[in-house]
Amino acid sequence: LQYRLDGEVHLWFAFPGETKCLPKDFGEGLSVFQQPARMVLDDGEKARMGRLRYPAGRRLFETSHALLRRALSCYGDIPPEQWRFVINAHGKPRIDPDLGAPPLMFSLSHTRGAAIVAITQGADVGADVERGDRMVDAARLSRRFFSPEEDAALLKMTPDALQEHFFHFWTLKESYIKARGLGLRLPLDSFSFRLEGSPPCRIGFSGDDPADAGKWLFALFKPLPSHVAAVGISPDRPSGPISLRCFHALPSGRVSPLGVAPLGLSPGMEIHPR
Ligand SMILES: CC(C)(COP(=O)(O)OP(=O)(O)OC[C@H]1O[C@@H](n2cnc3c(N)ncnc32)[C@H](O)[C@@H]1OP(=O)(O)O)[C@@H](O)C(=O)NCCC(=O)NCCS
Repeated sequence: LQYRLDGEVHLWFAFPGETKCLPKDFGEGLSVFQQPARMVLDDGEKARMGRLRYPAGRRLFETSHALLRRALSCYGDIPPEQWRFVINAHGKPRIDPDLGAPPLMFSLSHTRGAAIVAITQGADVGADVERGDRMVDAARLSRRFFSPEEDAALLKMTPDALQEHFFHFWTLKESYIKARGLGLRLPLDSFSFRLEGSPPCRIGFSGDDPADAGKWLFALFKPLPSHVAAVGISPDRPSGPISLRCFHALPSGRVSPLGVAPLGLSPGMEIHPR
């Protein structure tokens, strides 16, 4: 499998509930997506997985880290099990520069029911997926963590709309934090999103460094009715619009294009037609 990233950000999805029909045997000639997931994890990942308490958590970890390794292998001649990663002081992983791999950047996110991996060619990227159907005290969390502008926008909403839109802001904010790679050293109220108009909303963004705001592009969408996801990217060179292309890694080992309906897009960002 070889995929090209020119002017695009690719988003890979796996839904752990689907993994039960992985093939029992494997061998020459099967795609990287057909090998059992546990075969591609390294010792560190297996140890981290083993420390997770619940089987569902272990399965989600295995699915997402195998997805990352397999997806990366679609852009270079490195087999899934041979990728190595290093992490920065705040926990953000990237490909080990000593590996001699193509200049890929990635961001991984997982939550119950979904794993996503965003991949770009050298551009900073962050991705986040959350369950949008969880009940949370959205008004309290927004007051405590979000920027005053975001909080004011949410407070004008009905309780149902507040609950829904809270997760839109949350995933967008997480995508930016993850792209920057500073963890919560970047205060959540130091940058703001605005969602304007009817879906797909126009995403407005003011960064912690105002000079940076125009460099960031975001997409917000629902990969499943129960989940919300966001991806943020800072294109490394000005070119045409950045296109977001989605792929679904199926349990059979096949990869299929995934159509997602956008809830919001920055000007300059578009969803690739399937
Ligand atoms: C850890 C953090 C990156 C995200 O955590 P999360 O949303 O719980 O988890 P996600 O599944 O989206 O992301 C986890 C993955 O991000 C990556 N990651 C870890 N630290 C990272 C960092 N500093 N920057 C970017 N990516 C990071 C790893 O690949 C990690 O996967 P792994 O733990 O399986 O190795 C960080 O942003 C955080 O702690 N957020 C706090 C959440 C919060 O309070 N949000 C308030 C609402 S806005």
